[in-house]
Amino acid sequence: LTGDAAAGEKVFNRCKACHAVGEGAKNKVGPELNDIFGRVPGEIEGFKYSDAMTEYGKEHVWDVETLTAYLAAPRKVVKGTKMAFAGLKKEEQIDDVLAYLATFDPD
Ligand code: HEM
Repeated sequence: LTGDAAAGEKVFNRCKACHAVGEGAKNKVGPELNDIFGRVPGEIEGFKYSDAMTEYGKEHVWDVETLTAYLAAPRKVVKGTKMAFAGLKKEEQIDDVLAYLATFDPD
């Protein structure tokens, strides 16, 4: 991971309305994002995902590559996703937010 976690914390302000991360993080409009690297898309118990995300999870795992693609263009990468977010325009913002999320990933 090449991003800057401190810069990514600021980018994450745009995610916070819907996602929590860190100790005790709960699902909100979107699922909690702890330990995201290596998670199967759509696997958080008690969160109601779109069918599109459940299907996507049958053939993908969240890693740097899949997360980068999804965050750049959520509705193109997971057609039918219910994440109402247009995507991050700059690759640097994605690298930074992934570096931030990695600080909540023990692996
Ligand atoms: C799903 C990240 C912004 C709502 C997800 C997932 C990730 C993610 C990684 C998949 C989680 C999983 O498979 O368990 C982010 C990041 C954001 C962001 C990093 C900011 C850059 C938002 C915003 C909203 C939102 C602003 C609400 C308006 C959702 C919802 C899902 C989701 C509802 C489930 C999608 C589905 O079932 O199709 N997000 N998200 N997210 N996110 Fe976001």
